[in-house]
Formats: sequence, structure tokens, C-alpha cells
Amino acid sequence: MYVCICMAVTESEVHDCIAAGARSARQIRDATGAGKDCATCVRKVCAILKRSEELAATA
Ligand code: FES
Repeated sequence: MYVCICMAVTESEVHDCIAAGARSARQIRDATGAGKDCATCVRKVCAILKRSEELAATA
């Protein structure tokens, strides 16, 4: 499923980016392009980041 329509970035790509070490929406934007155009997706990217941090904290 697409997180960023403008740059055609999928949720899977965002997760891969986090797994590779990205810890902020800016790092994900720089790596994938998500958020570079209209920025509507930034909240979604932040939600994915927060969820992955919570999962990491409970692991
Ligand atoms: S939806 Fe991501 S920049 Fe527009």
C-alpha cells in the first residue's frame, strides 16, 4: 500500500528504511522521497515511525 502517492513510496519501503536505521521523517524523506512534494504523507510516515519505536520498546 502506498504511503506517499506523489513519490510512489510504499509502506514496505518505509519499513525497510527504518530497518536500515532511519529514525526521523526527514531521514525517510531523504532516503525514499516520501514527503518531498505535497507533504500530505508526513503524518503517515511519523505514525509508522512511532509504531516501530513502540514495537522496538516492547521487544
Ligand atoms: S503524498 Fe507524499 S509528498 Fe505528496
